[in-house]
Amino acid sequence: MDYQFILLTRDPAGFAVVQLNRPDVLNAINRKLMEELVAALEGLDEDENIRCIVLTGNEKAFAAGADIKEMSDASTVEMLLRDQFARWDRIRKIKTPIIAAVSGFALGGGCELMMACDIVIASETARIGQPEINIGVMPGAGGTQRLTRAVGKTKAMEMVLTGKMISAQEALQWGLVNKVVPVEFYLEEAKSLATEIAQKPPLAVRLAKEAILKAFDTTIEGGLEFERKNFYLLFASEDQKEGMKAFSEKRKAQWKGR
Ligand code: HXC
Repeated sequence: MDYQFILLTRDPAGFAVVQLNRPDVLNAINRKLMEELVAALEGLDEDENIRCIVLTGNEKAFAAGADIKEMSDASTVEMLLRDQFARWDRIRKIKTPIIAAVSGFALGGGCELMMACDIVIASETARIGQPEINIGVMPGAGGTQRLTRAVGKTKAMEMVLTGKMISAQEALQWGLVNKVVPVEFYLEEAKSLATEIAQKPPLAVRLAKEAILKAFDTTIEGGLEFERKNFYLLFASEDQKEGMKAFSEKRKAQWKGR
């Protein structure tokens, strides 16, 4: 597939980099970009050679939000019929781990996209926020839910109700990002983490990601049960036998993804 607004590269180390590519508008997320992004992520999710995905923008912007100009004149009915959030729901279903490599602005839908990823590496220049309040709306792609779960009610309220951006260091202190590095290293750091995850047994990675995400929409009891079943399930894999055998034989395991 030829993409207009994203760049896709596959690395022999077992991961892919998806780069949002609308630099003139700070990677504002229009419908076409979202369509391409979801198609790319789903394609990578089906590729057994890709064990981790790095999602990034450029130094100036991860993404400055949904494309305001595209939606400014829309009516409620048009917004309902566009059903743009159906695509966002498909991102939530991606089984391969996604690392966001964030530099510059991650605002509104950009912040929501970052939070839809599994791990976040930020550059020191990252500016993160939910500024929708300043244009007469509110977060619509998970901002009130994922942000609240990540930083707690009071900080989420402050960010969403004032629209103020926070720095990378604040985002780190608040648990919204995993690591902050100088701008020249953020993408390399994310790729190095992707390389590390790509070397792990893929079925265990997939089921572990699934179980962690389950924690967001179930009770502790339901979640523990789900975790236990995934744990048992891995005993049906060749990789479990190989991993435990290799440990006893003091050698490196050879994963098959089976
Ligand atoms: C459309 C955008 C855009 C956006 C920036 N641009 N953000 N276009 N939608 N979200 C465009 C600008 O119009 C401008 O185009 C170019 O990108 C450069 O932006 P400037 O404003 O000139 O840059 P700067 O002065 O550095 O300010 C950067 C900024 C500001 C602080 C990030 O652009 C800004 O406030 N952007 C909007 C942020 C926002 O409100 N995001 C939430 C959107 S609502 P021209 O053609 O003039 O050069 C949302 C809802 C999500 O995300 C719901 C789920 C999908």
